[in-house]
Amino acid sequence: MNVAVERIADFVGQEVVLKGWLRAKRSKGKIHFLLVRDGTGVIQCVMEQSKVAQDMFEIAEHCPLESSVEVKGTVRADKRSPIGFEIDVSSFKILGLAEEYPIGRKEHGIGFLMQWRHLYLRHKEPHAIMRIRATLIRAIRDFFDSRGFILVDAPILTPAACEGTTTLFQVGYFDEVAYLTQSGQLYNEATAAAFGKVYCFGPTFRAEKSKTRRHLMEFWMVEPEMAFCDLEENIQVAEEFVEYIVGRVLEERRKELEALERDTRPLESVKRPFIRLHYNEAVEILRSKGSDIQWGDDFGGDDETILTKDAEKPIVVHRFPAEVKAFYMKKDPQDPRLALCMDVLAPEGYGEIIGGGQREDDLKTLEESIKAHGLPMEAFSWYLDIRRYGTFEHSGFGLGVERTLAWICGLKHVREAIPFPRTLDKIWP
Ligand code: 4AD
Ligand code: MG
Repeated sequence: MNVAVERIADFVGQEVVLKGWLRAKRSKGKIHFLLVRDGTGVIQCVMEQSKVAQDMFEIAEHCPLESSVEVKGTVRADKRSPIGFEIDVSSFKILGLAEEYPIGRKEHGIGFLMQWRHLYLRHKEPHAIMRIRATLIRAIRDFFDSRGFILVDAPILTPAACEGTTTLFQVGYFDEVAYLTQSGQLYNEATAAAFGKVYCFGPTFRAEKSKTRRHLMEFWMVEPEMAFCDLEENIQVAEEFVEYIVGRVLEERRKELEALERDTRPLESVKRPFIRLHYNEAVEILRSKGSDIQWGDDFGGDDETILTKDAEKPIVVHRFPAEVKAFYMKKDPQDPRLALCMDVLAPEGYGEIIGGGQREDDLKTLEESIKAHGLPMEAFSWYLDIRRYGTFEHSGFGLGVERTLAWICGLKHVREAIPFPRTLDKIWP
């Protein structure tokens, strides 16, 4: 029977067949210790010369690392094993012979490893990160699916900008131009009027000319949108959401967090209520901590770091100046210089993981805003229809998967949080 390493406990005392790749090997006299990984785990396979055919012992001895192999043997519990089990080998076969493997045991720089990303994914850290990513994504879907949100996906090829024209990726669309989506939000607003509470979840694209640890050109974003919902309710959903997804990772991926040597204490304290700061307060704090930010400026990456470095919980900053925000934001009736928006900043210096807010629902005001932002009115005529036909108070937000995962895993750079990153200087592999 073919078995997976993660289910090996069910097969103690039984003869099994394991297919995988040879991760490492060492020999001691007449015994080979073969570390075989199968994608679900790594197990030590012990091959004694006296218990296998002579040629098999030699084949194993010379088997290049990362060759794909088939091992037959009996599962045995072993207290010394990190997973608690080993296999006593009765037969060994090479399925696919590997060439000399480029990733050695020595410490490689992350630049080198990312050049070999297609192979590097086989290794311990990326392996743990991608497993956590899968759990994070499942938790994200479970959160919305179990709270009355309908998944209604937004298109990837779009005729207009959502988040400003400077970061658009343009593509040919037969005789027209189209853009890769920056956000599904505008479509979410239409589907919220059709379904009430919706979310979309997919890849989004930004031609960001910034080479920072927070920016990817292609990243995954989940975006809920809610009809008859104001900024305050929107913030409450965002807080509950972040608490939930972090909790699920802690519940289900302890082993992987340990493999990454992530100190989980800061994650344990991601509990509501989060810290709330009005933009005005946040600017005061930043200036007192040495930032040269002026009232009216958007936050730079450094500002987010300063603000969140010593924070024990995520920080919700609300009501940024409308000037620095997107055209669709509703103005704060208390101070029309401000927008009814919010960012959720992750602690430990990570910064923004969520951006969102309440949308402008008045047709005239929205038309003026489109003009003021120098955007082409025709491209937004369908979007304005949402205000023409039964306009309604509504709000939503977007959470970036990679930034959230980078924070949860304690990574230095978001490129490690996506299987095949697209960065300013690199689209390989
Ligand atoms: O703050 P942003 O630009 O908000 C929007 O796109 C809204 N339309 C979302 C909405 O309200 N439906 O982006 C949202 C999140 C950010 O907080 C960040 O986590 C992530 O998307 N993000 C990026 N992640 C990686 N690389 C980039 N270049 C990113 N740009 C944004
Ligand atoms: Mg933002």
